[in-house]
Amino acid sequence: MQRVLSAIFSREPYSASRNLFISAIFWLVVGTSFGLLASTQFDMPDALSGVAQLSFGRLRPVHVNTVLIGWLSMGYIACMMYIIPVLSGRKGMWSERLGNITMVLWNLVMATGILTILNGDTEGREYAELAGTIHIGHTSIQVLDWAVLIGLLTVGINAWMTVLTGTEKKWYVSIWYFLGALFWFPIVYIIGNRGFVQLPGLDDAITNWFYGHNILGMWFTVGGIGIMYYLIPRFTGNPLYSHTLSMIGFWTIGMFYAPTGTHHLLQSPLPEWLKSVAVISSVFLLVPVLTVLTNFFMTMKGKWSAAADHIALRFAIFGGVGYLLTCIQGPFQATRSVNWYIHFTNWVVGHAHLALFGTFSFFVFAASYYIIPRVTGRKMYSKPLAVWHFWLVALGIIIMVLDLVIAGLVQAAGWHAGIPVDQWVVELVPYWWIRSFSGVMIVFGSALYMFNVYKTVFHPEQCEALPHSPTGVVYV
Ligand code: HEM
Repeated sequence: MQRVLSAIFSREPYSASRNLFISAIFWLVVGTSFGLLASTQFDMPDALSGVAQLSFGRLRPVHVNTVLIGWLSMGYIACMMYIIPVLSGRKGMWSERLGNITMVLWNLVMATGILTILNGDTEGREYAELAGTIHIGHTSIQVLDWAVLIGLLTVGINAWMTVLTGTEKKWYVSIWYFLGALFWFPIVYIIGNRGFVQLPGLDDAITNWFYGHNILGMWFTVGGIGIMYYLIPRFTGNPLYSHTLSMIGFWTIGMFYAPTGTHHLLQSPLPEWLKSVAVISSVFLLVPVLTVLTNFFMTMKGKWSAAADHIALRFAIFGGVGYLLTCIQGPFQATRSVNWYIHFTNWVVGHAHLALFGTFSFFVFAASYYIIPRVTGRKMYSKPLAVWHFWLVALGIIIMVLDLVIAGLVQAAGWHAGIPVDQWVVELVPYWWIRSFSGVMIVFGSALYMFNVYKTVFHPEQCEALPHSPTGVVYV
């Protein structure tokens, strides 16, 4: 017990990053399993009927919040708690103990969040369902909203103090992106959660989607790009192609992302000017996207073949291509002429998985295969397991996205031809089975990944010592 507590509340350099990775990967397996369970309800709608906690309306938000707040957010913070000190010239965060306390708090939020949502306590707004409501007199307090906010603020303070107390006075581009993400996300979180801001009617829908899109834009995009700006030069040994482009990308993301949320509400009775601003800024997002991708791909110059042996780089390249496809699909489907057709169909679910799994999750996979060996001083336990992980999740997400995009088009065709839903819905049955099949691949791949990380961290004696390799090519 003593050993466990001292590992959890450790002051050891990079212990917060290590513990956050372990937690994030655990929530990845839990969260994707909930997604799979939700998916099987489309294939066998009566299999779990009668148990309110296992109804689709509860499984879906549990899945979404576990993968977004548990897996991806914790994975991002794990990456930041390694990369920020390294780039600031410090050995470890300003306070590793504060980092570890944040990790414990975040785990408690996730465990409580799952139990409360399963039991019907939800804010009922997409991506922000965590509530944990308690009533004091006539006032209700959403405890989990406060806990997430406190968690974000402690990470922000720790990150700033690490940068300010480090020996490196120049800010590398990843530091800009991380501090930007840690500045913007708490603001977005406050505006988007009813625990803090409650507006009536359509104003509520606008703030809902301000949050819904900016958790992607100001948190997952900005943080993920920060991770990749660190990884690609490291993996390739090439200097970053252009610092100027990275700064143009940074400021234009800030400019164009903020008003895009209303593109989720183009068919709603909102002011037309707001919708137009959302559509135009969605298309203008191509500016930061192209700066980022030009920088990634030009930094890769001459090093593409390294991916044959460098598993972490392979994940990073897959994520980079996922980012390209997501950001071509996004502005395209935000235009009014496309949006009216695909809105409310499985196409959108396919887009969400391409972004959050096919892109941002792959960034975290890439980072973890580089950072975990550096933190433990050991190579990953098994290279074959890592290769299996790659192929299972890569093929799984390709199948899932293609399947959902086609299912969305079938759905839209039936809808717009005026055919009654009960007639076209049966056409979707094979697509839903294929989605579940791809889900099995992803959950299985994630479980192999968790096992590999578990062995590396908890049984270091079974792993080889880390050879010298600044690019990390032989860490896996
Ligand atoms: C880390 C991996 C994953 C992430 C980040 C993720 C993320 C998401 C997100 C953001 C949504 C909401 C989509 C929307 O905008 O409507 C969603 C919905 C969903 N996901 Fe996942 N997901 C992941 C893995 C999986 C897996 C492995 C499955 C298994 C098949 C799955 C099944 C589902 C289902 C059934 C829904 C509900 C779709 C609907 O409402 O029709 N997800 N997921």
